[in-house]
Amino acid sequence: MSAASDLPPPVITPNFLGTLRTLRKLVRNPMEAWPAGVYTDPYVVSHMLGRNTMFICDPDLVQQVLVDDAESFVKAEPMRRSLEPALGRGILTSEGARWRLHRRVSAPVFRPAHVNNFIPAMITASREMRDVWATLPEGAPLEITHEMMRVTFEIILETMLSGRGNTDVARVEVSIRDFLESTSWQTALSALGAPTWTPFPGKSRSERGGDYLRHIVTERIVERRVSGERRNDLLSLMLDAKDPETGEGLDDTDIRDNIITSIGAGHETTTLALTWTFFLLARNPAIESRVLSEIAQVTGGAALEAGQVAELTYTRQVVQESMRVYPPVAMVVRQSTRDLKVGGVKITPHDNVFVPIYAIHHHTTLWPNPDVFDPERFAPEAVKARHRWSYLPFGAGPRICIGMGFALLEAVAILGTLLPASRLSAEPGFVPTPKLRVTMRPAEGMPMRLHRRG
Ligand code: HEM
Repeated sequence: MSAASDLPPPVITPNFLGTLRTLRKLVRNPMEAWPAGVYTDPYVVSHMLGRNTMFICDPDLVQQVLVDDAESFVKAEPMRRSLEPALGRGILTSEGARWRLHRRVSAPVFRPAHVNNFIPAMITASREMRDVWATLPEGAPLEITHEMMRVTFEIILETMLSGRGNTDVARVEVSIRDFLESTSWQTALSALGAPTWTPFPGKSRSERGGDYLRHIVTERIVERRVSGERRNDLLSLMLDAKDPETGEGLDDTDIRDNIITSIGAGHETTTLALTWTFFLLARNPAIESRVLSEIAQVTGGAALEAGQVAELTYTRQVVQESMRVYPPVAMVVRQSTRDLKVGGVKITPHDNVFVPIYAIHHHTTLWPNPDVFDPERFAPEAVKARHRWSYLPFGAGPRICIGMGFALLEAVAILGTLLPASRLSAEPGFVPTPKLRVTMRPAEGMPMRLHRRG
């Protein structure tokens, strides 16, 4: 194992707070409103902002709620309310028959046979970034979240829509950031029962961001419908996809919402997985050396090729462990639709059940030395020895992330291309604070410095 790291969980104040203070914490950083017991107990029952809320941490309870009894839960209203204005009613935000149709139509699109075809686009974008970095001076400062946003966005545009066309990439980046900033207000206002028209700081900016995203994707759909052209991208697959049971397809609004959902759900999350990975590698040079040896062995010292990505098994373990220490999606939320018992606790309709992924990944009974970064935890034997649902970066059950395979390939392709050319160092003494905004980002960004490898 590497040396013990100084990456403690964020300070959690037990939730005996008044409504106003809880609300303030929810807007600032919802992880601060989690009860302290989420890091040590099988579950914690709390009463937050007028709602019974159960935080579940025991993997058996996670299995019950997300897998076995998944039909008895829906995504919680505050989550839907915060995501729908930008993502529309695609697969991530739908429920019931609508969700089933979207999932059945989309699932084949994300099968390995299709996703593997996207690896060359992942490699090309990574090489472009490698070449840009090669022009920067030794020790150049880089905001790594921003850099990873750029490369993952190139990849998502290429694989979803066959390129950027006339898309204003900077405007899309700002749109996504404005929208994410609005989500914690939406969540807090929804928890208070405030109507959807309630104003809050940044609301119209985030609405304009959503309008722009819808506009660019609609334009592409119309172009393809008119030309009948098909390309090696997700949009073409979606235009032709049919429900295997009924033969039903999706209309243009549904396709638009699902493309935006994939951009929204896939771009920011993968960016953060990579951001945290670079930070952890910078702090753990022995692990970084092992990654470099693996890459050199697989590539023979040449540039990584698409067909070699799957062979980088240790690099993949590094990404998996990084997503344990810093899961890009730190919590999933559900609301029950019926009376049932979870871990002996009576749950009634509309009660919240929270799965605090970050806390489960740092739970003292599930992970020895939970704050230590150790990719050996993802060696095949170690994985087999653990409860499957003690590790949940992609959720679990029928609503598990549809882009899981895509994201892992992408992260490994990017690391495998960038790392042999460049080393990134963390600013001395810098310890990032994880902050929850649907995704878990470093509150202060991730300032690093670029060094060329000799
Ligand atoms: C490291 C990167 C990623 C992480 C950590 C991540 C995480 C997650 C999680 C935790 C969920 C479940 C949410 C819930 O149960 O409430 C989810 C769902 C989803 N993800 Fe990802 N994701 C990643 C990348 C991607 C990519 C690349 C795509 C698409 C290209 C994608 C598309 C989706 C979609 C469409 C859903 C909704 C599935 C459904 O409700 O049936 N994700 N993701």
